[in-house]
Amino acid sequence: EQRQAFIAGIPKAELHLHIEGSLEPEMMFALAQRNAIDIPFASAEEVRKAYAFSNLQDFLDIYYQGMNVLRTEQDFYDLTMAYFQRIHADNAIHAEIFFDPQGHTERGVTFSTAIDGILRAMDDAQSDLNISSQLIMCFLRHLSEEDALATLEEAAPYLDRISGVGLDSSELGHPPSKFAKVFAKAKALGLKAVAHAGEEGPPDYVWEALDVLKIERMDHGNRSLEDPRLVERLQDNQMTLTVCPLSNLSLCVVNDLKDHPLKKMLGLGLRATVNSDDPSYFGGYLNDNYEATASALDLDKDDIIALAKNSFRGSFLDEETIAQSL
Ligand code: HPA
Ligand code: ZN
Repeated sequence: EQRQAFIAGIPKAELHLHIEGSLEPEMMFALAQRNAIDIPFASAEEVRKAYAFSNLQDFLDIYYQGMNVLRTEQDFYDLTMAYFQRIHADNAIHAEIFFDPQGHTERGVTFSTAIDGILRAMDDAQSDLNISSQLIMCFLRHLSEEDALATLEEAAPYLDRISGVGLDSSELGHPPSKFAKVFAKAKALGLKAVAHAGEEGPPDYVWEALDVLKIERMDHGNRSLEDPRLVERLQDNQMTLTVCPLSNLSLCVVNDLKDHPLKKMLGLGLRATVNSDDPSYFGGYLNDNYEATASALDLDKDDIIALAKNSFRGSFLDEETIAQSL
């Protein structure tokens, strides 16, 4: 189709991607076998059938179970390299990827094992695929702030390779303010800050992410539209929203892509971007998200171009590189 070719032809950046959420069922089986781990599924088909979620927590339970097959540095390398190869086909030229160190250290896989494999793949993606990337370390918000502080300590030897910190996992009941201290500490160390907010949580959580955590970019942010003062704030600050349409559909944040707020966001002058979140679990990579949304919301070429440009404007690339990308 014409729209598909147009989307494929535009260079893009991905700003909201959990690397553990790019674990495809086939690789889950291969790694389970390589590491002699039992998994409660008979086939990749069966795994895909289990990916029917009614909310965020439903998904997270399966997401943490899935990452249990990741054990060695090579596993993290293979996972990350497969993601880069996949988005290379989508004409993505830059990616800022999340990882969840606590999802690994909790089960006895060291911080270094995970990050060394991811970083090696990031280096190879630059040299072999010409894809630049940056790494964002997320804190799991269902755990304590003390746990997050300990994770920040563990990251100390790697701070020159980590661009920022993020906040993910179960949103409701875990407001951004719970992590005020660790975010202040991360910022003092020169790290950037992003946070998931307004995916399931109320506009108050988005306010807290802005005012308490002092984030430079908002992950999701959908529910911001419920609060006109918040919309004004996001407009005034030119805050980038990393929107994830197929994720929102999978997790019932929206009931139909036709009801997705992305087009409304653009109309309000908000700096919205399109991202895949956890592509293996939500049924699509970067271009799939562009295509499904463009089709459901009847986005025109200018909308699609605006979304792709926003992905560079909202990135942590330097000003000159951003200017060259627009
Ligand atoms: N929301 C919150 N936490 C997550 C997500 C998400 O979409 N994906 C992986 N961890
Ligand atoms: Zn996410």
